[in-house]
Amino acid sequence: MARAGRVCALALDAVRGIIAPGVSTKEIERFVHDLIRENGGRPAFLGYRGYPASICASVNDQVVHGIPSERKLREGDIISVDLGVDYKGYFGDAAVTFAVGEVSPAVQKLMRVTEESLELGIRQAVAGGRLSDISHAIQAHAEANGFSVVRSFVGHGIGRALHEEPQVPNFGPPGKGPRLQKGMALAIEPMVNAGGWKVRILEDGWTAVTEDGSLSAHYEHTVIVDEGQPAVLTRL
Ligand code: MF3
Ligand code: CO
Repeated sequence: MARAGRVCALALDAVRGIIAPGVSTKEIERFVHDLIRENGGRPAFLGYRGYPASICASVNDQVVHGIPSERKLREGDIISVDLGVDYKGYFGDAAVTFAVGEVSPAVQKLMRVTEESLELGIRQAVAGGRLSDISHAIQAHAEANGFSVVRSFVGHGIGRALHEEPQVPNFGPPGKGPRLQKGMALAIEPMVNAGGWKVRILEDGWTAVTEDGSLSAHYEHTVIVDEGQPAVLTRL
């Protein structure tokens, strides 16, 4: 899993270098697909429940599961790139939201608060705690900053499959759910909207967008619970 996570991290770090106005989301798809293969991995999303690509490329009001296309990024857009790697049967999963060129301070705040929410959730992924301590930390920080957390997509256990038990919601009261144990592997992935939390799915059957058209950000890490702070496998 450490190798799988490292390939996720390498891929997202490399994507940072190619994000620019005029680049299509399909170009990012090809770049990531090739990079994962060159590093000995298999793109875990490709073919998963019929998903047609190696990455999810979700632009602006797209929350998650944006399918790569000929759409070209424009100055001021934000794009969430989510990817998974299967390395010899072990999985990693990670996502980052990138700014395309310059974005407004309000948009920068949405990105920063979403990433901070992920970090605060990770800080709760400690043996002896409860699963929903992670959920609550994420929700509290996002809402304290005037944003909302998406309800219909959640984080998840991960390991020999991309999605395993338990689900890891990004909302809820603390102190509920299974007790966290050393060695549990979790993908924690807040999706935070600038407006309301509701989403709808486009006609392609995949792309989730905010119902009110507001912007959405998404950050994800794969972590291993430990007695102290968790190991974050998808950080370089
Ligand atoms: N956002 C999902 C996750 O990180 C990715 C779904 S995989 C897909 O768990 F293949 F269905 F896109
Ligand atoms: Co995930």
